[in-house]
Amino acid sequence: MNSPFSFIDANTDRYLKELSDLLAIPSVSTDPERVPDIKRCAEWLADHMRGIGLQNVQIMPTQGHPVVYADWLGAPGKPTVLIYGHYDVQPPEPLELWTSPPFQATVRGDDLFARGASDDKGQTFIHLKAVEAFITTQGALPVNVKFLIEGEEEIGSEHLEGFVRDHAAMLKADLVLISDSSMFAKGVPSICYGLRGLAYMQIDLVGPNRDLHSGSYGGSVLNPIQALSEIISRLHDKNGRVTIPGFYDDVRKLSAKERTAFKKLPWSDAKYARDLGLRRLYGEKGFTTLERLWARPTAECNGIWGGFTDEGAKTVLPSRVSAKISMRLVPDQSSSKAARLFERYVKAIAPKGVQVTVRSLHGGEPVITPIESSGVRAAIVALERGFGKKPLYQREGGSIPIVVQFKKLLKIDTVLLGFGLPDENAHAPDEFLHLPNFYGGIRTVAHFFEVLPETARP
Ligand code: BES
Ligand code: MN
Ligand code: MN
Repeated sequence: MNSPFSFIDANTDRYLKELSDLLAIPSVSTDPERVPDIKRCAEWLADHMRGIGLQNVQIMPTQGHPVVYADWLGAPGKPTVLIYGHYDVQPPEPLELWTSPPFQATVRGDDLFARGASDDKGQTFIHLKAVEAFITTQGALPVNVKFLIEGEEEIGSEHLEGFVRDHAAMLKADLVLISDSSMFAKGVPSICYGLRGLAYMQIDLVGPNRDLHSGSYGGSVLNPIQALSEIISRLHDKNGRVTIPGFYDDVRKLSAKERTAFKKLPWSDAKYARDLGLRRLYGEKGFTTLERLWARPTAECNGIWGGFTDEGAKTVLPSRVSAKISMRLVPDQSSSKAARLFERYVKAIAPKGVQVTVRSLHGGEPVITPIESSGVRAAIVALERGFGKKPLYQREGGSIPIVVQFKKLLKIDTVLLGFGLPDENAHAPDEFLHLPNFYGGIRTVAHFFEVLPETARP
């Protein structure tokens, strides 16, 4: 058997077993107790990479979690593809909402359920299997490949920027290929050309120096929960616009052409709302849902805690209360500027009678990638061959912080070739990967490798 494509078709059961082994490792990057699992996950990947014939496989330390690097450079004169992915995952909690255990990959119907199945172990594994199919059947790839798989994406890729700067020569490539986003819908492959940025903030409020009996003290002091609620309620106006002064100053206006293109996509607000169990959607007035998701910035409270939240009742005014807030950003906003504006505004509107601290936890810059390049041309052909359908162009609301750095530090563009689905419960209970997209993804990436040398020719 020497066609990589028949090899792929003959090996899907093994792929599923191997991916399940990778998904069994709870590589939760934000949890200090999971550091040994992070290490184990990096080792699993490195071993696997060696096993499929990749070369120069290395686990490279950073100030944080290690990077896994590997390459195959046996195609002189052909393009070099830098493949980026991440092996870290989000915390699985709340555990009781999972139908099957998060680190025990389980097939139900056509879907594989596990934390990281879609984001991003499953999608990263697609690339390894495409490489394996060529090396096994042909002893060679049609292009050169370099893998950069990091362990800190879900916590903001804090140390990766320095790593890329320090290893620019090692990472030199013609383009970056990333599968860490979604197709437009089931059966509708797409090329993504835009990601939002992020500024992730925490607000801490302190009122009285200790918790107080809500009867003995209630009415005499400002309750920090009330103060925080007031602050959060003042982040938006009645039209759903963010009220932070200056927040929209650098927002690039959507062109009429792009608005028209968005409107042509097969989208239904009613279906979207129904899928989410909602009667109505919410958002900034004057923009469609896709515009609000992909091309408008937001400020959202992700979590809020303080006071008594256990079962039963306890009458208490808390001393402290906190909230985490994510601002999604679009070109040409900057993460650090958004953080500054946020801090200034929150401090200005904080009611007197509480102490307020605002911290920036992490962030990433928004990005637009070119829609006409040899990489995109190859991706279009590859998706057509892999899924039997012409892909759509789309943007996404999520963030991959390193994409902007690849452009800045390595001077190369990224092709975002997502094989997830928008509703695969990434970051939530019952995350899954749609298996037809897993196998279709492997075929697509194999086609990409085959086609790229042709589209790259001048
Ligand atoms: N894979 C996502 C990014 C993503 C989500 C792209 C949806 C396209 C569509 C990534 O793993 C992620 O979750 N990124 C974080 C970045 C943050 C921690 C800096 C995000 O978007 O919250
Ligand atoms: Mn991801
Ligand atoms: Mn993620």
